[in-house]
Amino acid sequence: MRSHYCGNLRDEHIDHEVTLCGWVDRRRDHGGVIFLDLRDREGIVQVVFDPDTEEHFQRADRVRGEYVVKVTGRVRARSGNTVNPAMPTGTIEVLGKQLEILNAAATPPFPLDEHNTVSEEVRLRYRFLDLRRSEIQERLKLRARITSLLRRYLDEQGFFDIETPILTRATPEGARDYLVPSRTHPGKFFALPQSPQLFKQLLMVAGMDRYYQIARCFRDEDLRADRQPEFTQIDIEASFISADDMMAITEGMIRELFKGVLGIDLGEFPRMPYSEAMRRFGSDKPDLRIPLELVDVADLMQQVEFKVFAGPAHDPKGRVAALKVPGGGKLTRSQIDEYTKFVGIYGARGLAWIKINEIAKGIEGLQSPIIKFMPEAVVLQLMERLAVQDGDIIFFGADRAQVVNEALGALRVRIGHDLEMIERPWAPLWVVEFPMFEEDGEGRLSACHHPFTAPLCTPAELAADPAAALSNAYDMVLNGTELGGGSIRIHQREMQETVFRVLGIDEAEQQEKFGFLLDALKYGAPPHGGLAFGLDRLVMLMTGAKSIRDVIAFPKTQTAACLMTDAPGTIGAAQLRELNIRLRQNEA
Ligand code: AMO
Ligand code: AMP
Repeated sequence: MRSHYCGNLRDEHIDHEVTLCGWVDRRRDHGGVIFLDLRDREGIVQVVFDPDTEEHFQRADRVRGEYVVKVTGRVRARSGNTVNPAMPTGTIEVLGKQLEILNAAATPPFPLDEHNTVSEEVRLRYRFLDLRRSEIQERLKLRARITSLLRRYLDEQGFFDIETPILTRATPEGARDYLVPSRTHPGKFFALPQSPQLFKQLLMVAGMDRYYQIARCFRDEDLRADRQPEFTQIDIEASFISADDMMAITEGMIRELFKGVLGIDLGEFPRMPYSEAMRRFGSDKPDLRIPLELVDVADLMQQVEFKVFAGPAHDPKGRVAALKVPGGGKLTRSQIDEYTKFVGIYGARGLAWIKINEIAKGIEGLQSPIIKFMPEAVVLQLMERLAVQDGDIIFFGADRAQVVNEALGALRVRIGHDLEMIERPWAPLWVVEFPMFEEDGEGRLSACHHPFTAPLCTPAELAADPAAALSNAYDMVLNGTELGGGSIRIHQREMQETVFRVLGIDEAEQQEKFGFLLDALKYGAPPHGGLAFGLDRLVMLMTGAKSIRDVIAFPKTQTAACLMTDAPGTIGAAQLRELNIRLRQNEA
């Protein structure tokens, strides 16, 4: 139908006859001349109709916003004072000769250029209209370029794109499963994959050597700004490789992606053990753009009587840490109160602080609600350890290590943003040497990554002291977001059974849930490993979007619903009967 996209017309097209198709973005009547801003996915161009073309002029007069039209006309230069440098097509316009109305449109529930004034609910309900906005179209366009480039990279590296099932068995990645009832096997359910983890491992056992997939994953978990119940992974696995090999391949991929799409050189990614990340940043996904660090001070606080500090300082599972903020002395009382509330979200019961007004005056030059509880010698040692200067503030966290890490880790990021301390636009790194397991409150262990991750020790060592075991896992972190995670896998049956035992999965359950995997490990499984990136998070970072919903065409809400299709929906009695399902609300 068309000869050109509206948004692609430039000076070089002057005097060309063009046919355009698109939506009427705006219609203006300038006393006898009608201007239509015509929009398609490439942009907007101005079309002018004058009364010379009577029939078409009349039609142009009738169109309204969002009408779908086809226009034929001649491109001409705009006269000097009507040039619009803000528009890529601003030096030209199309003198319309023919106008065909392909479809009329009702008045949209919100003007597209005033999307900010309506709630996200309304926009998600009419997502097909919201998606007409150039801002979202640009993000989806970039997303398509990203996947295209990633595919090309992986194809060139010899990876095969192989699909894995959506109707499957549970794949434990730490979330709840989405379940699908089976009609042909009454009382039984499929689970939607939380990731293709087990299938990609089986593809390695099958000898495919290098696999990738842009795979949809499903996780029924609490949603946040960077989580969706249905999201996309760039899922990768390879055989006969080391962790270093896998990190080199995937780091190369991300570097090439940033170079190709954004023209940015990310440089080499530093590597940091998990323990160091927790110690220095209180997080396993540290934002290295922010030059603030946690410093341990428990040894000093063991000497004070102030119980808030002395308690955790003596507790092996406790932590007492300080966060020095250079120049933070200017923070007001109400800002400090606000930060105290903020760390409360993470379970911190308070936020002690010391302002350094004039260090030359010793203890007299400090201001704080807590130094009265501390011997002067301890305070002075503290100042020395933190290398304070006039105008600094120090915040303290004292509690169980996990609470201190989460609270001060989040405070570090918050203050880094509030005080505009971001030092560089991009800070990637690898976090390595994760623990194999984490303990819940009751001393039960769960896998830190997933139970197929290889430990950095023998099965005997693992069984003897599982809590101390480290894993051969690696996470790629960018600007404080976990972009992807992976590991070298267990490829020997004995090790896999040991891990299951440590996790309290007995033999019967092992057979029932993972019998096929244990079987596969018996028949010549090669050493293998891989990684999966969160595509949505990657696109979010690369486009600067605030929410993961802004980079997904049809996202779900915070309560995992689709407002446009009104999913999930109810189903009829007949269908339920066919599935052998009786709803509890119907029983009453
Ligand atoms: P993991 O569970 O770490 O590993 O997931 C890999 C990456 O997927 C992204 N991600 C999400 N993105 C959006 N919404 C979600 N709910 C969500 N959950 C995870 C993150 C994360 O880094 N099978 C392993 C990978 C492997 O070992 O190869 C796995 O799924 O960016
Ligand atoms: P309190 O004696 O409870 O009034 O606390 C004295 C100071 O210590 C206040 O500034 C509190 O915010 C702070 N504080 C209390 N509990 C903690 C904690 N667990 N970690 C850090 N600071 C705390």
